[in-house]
Amino acid sequence: MQDIFVKDLAEHLGKEVRLKGWARNIRSSGKLLFIIFRDGTGEVQAVAFKPELGEEAFEEAKKLTLESSVVLTGVPKEHQKIAGQYELSVSGVKIVQIAEDYPIGKKEHGPDFLLSNRHLWLRAPKQWAILRVRHTVYYAICDYLNDNGFFRFDSPILTPNACEGTTTLFELDYFDEGKAYLSQSGQLYLETGIMSLGRVYDFGPVFRAERSKTRKHLTEFWMMDAEAAFVEHDENMAIQEGLIRYVIRTVLEKCDQELDILERDKEALIAADAPFKKMTHYEAVEYLRSKGSQITHGSDLGAPDELMLTEGSAVPVFIEKWPKEIKAFYMKRDPEDENLVLGNDLIAPEGFGEIIGGSQREDDHDLLLGRMQAEKMPIEEYQWFLDLRKYGSVPHSGFGIGLERLITWMTGIHHIRETIPFPRMIYRIYP
Ligand code: 4AD
Ligand code: MG
Repeated sequence: MQDIFVKDLAEHLGKEVRLKGWARNIRSSGKLLFIIFRDGTGEVQAVAFKPELGEEAFEEAKKLTLESSVVLTGVPKEHQKIAGQYELSVSGVKIVQIAEDYPIGKKEHGPDFLLSNRHLWLRAPKQWAILRVRHTVYYAICDYLNDNGFFRFDSPILTPNACEGTTTLFELDYFDEGKAYLSQSGQLYLETGIMSLGRVYDFGPVFRAERSKTRKHLTEFWMMDAEAAFVEHDENMAIQEGLIRYVIRTVLEKCDQELDILERDKEALIAADAPFKKMTHYEAVEYLRSKGSQITHGSDLGAPDELMLTEGSAVPVFIEKWPKEIKAFYMKRDPEDENLVLGNDLIAPEGFGEIIGGSQREDDHDLLLGRMQAEKMPIEEYQWFLDLRKYGSVPHSGFGIGLERLITWMTGIHHIRETIPFPRMIYRIYP
């Protein structure tokens, strides 16, 4: 007999097959037993009918509990009531292990309980759908970059210095070398990679000791940093837009079923795949003030500002040309206004906030050094980074996507903590 997966049921209609997985739900009524069976690839309703299955096998099937593991044999059929769905007419049941008192039941559980049982919660249909969207988003990003001349270049996680300021660094003792820090972004290392490969990206966990207890912050999250030689500010944004729009299309194409499970408004995603809007930071502040906000020209945008800026917009909005004081030391000054830098944030619509931070990089040695001195950075520790501006410096740009922020937007879920298998937040590190 052939072992198959739930996803392939349609190809085996009318033939007896074997499936291996778990009972997500069980319901019985007289001579009938309905098992919602899942195997990782999908789920199907399996129907055991006592007169067909036989007394003994039926009694065995009735032992099944929530989340027990089981091997079912049966015949796949078209669902009697729902077109395009299938059912399994059960002909055999082999229990692998009986799960006693599965703690996650049908009643509502609070987020704290679910997070403490994250190792089990991952099996729930919505979590399954989110994990699959995560997989799709991850590979869509890689595919786009691979097809556009970028090479994977893995940056280190243990680093001797900060990339995004010193306030959110996780510090640890590093043998006789003093302190080391967990990477906040691979960007500075990627800048070395372009001098060898031209265009590079990394993709891995980064760490921020963020005190922020919001629905958009994790202390460990995944970032894709991309960097390209001879790419300037406008082209940098064009690459970001091309990449994000490719991700949207891929998710719509490959995750239709998952988006249904998550009750995601697909029309909103379809509408977001159109030319993105652009605003300078100055224009953004003017706009916000005209709407009654108290924000001033030298300040960063908060979550309510980001929401207001995208309200009524179906597409993401680039905020570019920021005051240099509120952006990182490595951003290139705007040749038209030395108080500004050629940085951009990309704000997702529907209140999902900043998904990308990027910029053209300062490629002039003395200007960069001056900026670092003004910020009282330890110059010796960044000598390697300054060297890049001494030996064949070129205009270059890059950006970093927060993977979980992007998944939160694609899935439309409320809180970022469900987009990563094991979320790390200031108040949680278990399990
Ligand atoms: O804007 P950020 O800080 O930019 C950088 O780190 C640059 N060095 C990237 C680069 O140019 N290569 O972070 C990039 C993105 C943000 O736009 C946001 O999506 C995400 O990372 N992010 C977080 N996601 C979850 N939790 C947090 N605490 C995050 N902080 C940033
Ligand atoms: Mg940012």
